Amino acid sequence: MAFRAFFYCRKSADWVEGMEEKKVPTWRIFSLRELYLATNNFNYDNKLGEGGFGSVYWGQLWDGSQIAVKRLKVWSNKAEMEFAVKVEILGRVRHENLLSLRGYCAEGQERLIVYDYMPNLSLLSHLHGQHSSECHLSWERRMRIAIGSAEGIAYLHHNVTPHIIHRDVKASNVLLDSDFRAQVAEFGFAKLIPDGATHVTTRVKGTLGYLTPEYAMLGKASEGCDVYSFGILLLELASGRRPIERVDAEAEAHDHGVGAPAGQGEEAGGGGGSEAEGGLREGRDEEGGDGGDGERSEGA
Ligand SMILES: Nc1ncnc2c1ncn2[C@@H]1O[C@H](COP(=O)(O)OP(=O)(O)OP(=O)(O)O)[C@@H](O)[C@H]1O
Ligand SMILES: [Mg+2]
Repeated sequence: MAFRAFFYCRKSADWVEGMEEKKVPTWRIFSLRELYLATNNFNYDNKLGEGGFGSVYWGQLWDGSQIAVKRLKVWSNKAEMEFAVKVEILGRVRHENLLSLRGYCAEGQERLIVYDYMPNLSLLSHLHGQHSSECHLSWERRMRIAIGSAEGIAYLHHNVTPHIIHRDVKASNVLLDSDFRAQVAEFGFAKLIPDGATHVTTRVKGTLGYLTPEYAMLGKASEGCDVYSFGILLLELASGRRPIERVDAEAEAHDHGVGAPAGQGEEAGGGGGSEAEGGLREGRDEEGGDGGDGERSEGA
């Protein structure tokens, strides 16, 4: 009898182990051919969106699993080893609220990073993008997303050696799994970009970050920068409003009974880049289309 009980325990332990293996796919190097096949030659229809580092494509591997492939645009073939080493380091970071890397590809000029595809896309798409009208974000889910994101970021700051500063905490970098659990993406990404081609200075696409003034202007990153950005994310999550909105003077006066200097907007997050110039509200709304937040739905 005791033997039987032991046997069942073993069986159930094996099952749990099996489940975990399934949740954390093995890390590996992908061939360029395999990724071309998976994404239908990086077809435009497979494109999930475009950020400061490059474009992200949805794909399906031969085993049926869905992936998101980030095709980096800033690179040179000299840096192949450097890229491989850095991406392998990031690949070792595992936490339930961090989007883990499945692998990478470095062939010729191409540098690609492979992630699990997150069926509920980004927090941005639910707050302001294509899913915002569907009202999937109850207060309970918002709380879980806030706590989950905080735990992911805290893990990077305190449990990884050497510590990782995310540098780009924002709603488009918080992805949501099938259960709406937060998966913070792109941690330590700035480290993958060659020196002299930083994310902040090269960005023309993608969503604006919520940057502290010292990071936006002087490039000085610290854990505090992530805490600041996370604070903006919390405000966004609680209010449902965009962190950066340009409110025209007339509407402002009407809403609050006070005047505002023409062209002055509310800018909660600082940040830089071309989107900051002119018509922010219009520019941000366009992201819901095919721009920075041009995300696809599950199974598309
Ligand atoms: N693993 C993934 N699953 C589903 N969607 C993803 C995944 N990775 C990225 N995306 C989506 O693809 C789009 C493009 O992502 P990308 O990271 O390139 O841009 P971004 O987050 O707007 O800007 P940045 O380059 O500053 O991070 C975003 O809307 C993002 O949410
Ligand atoms: Mg991103």
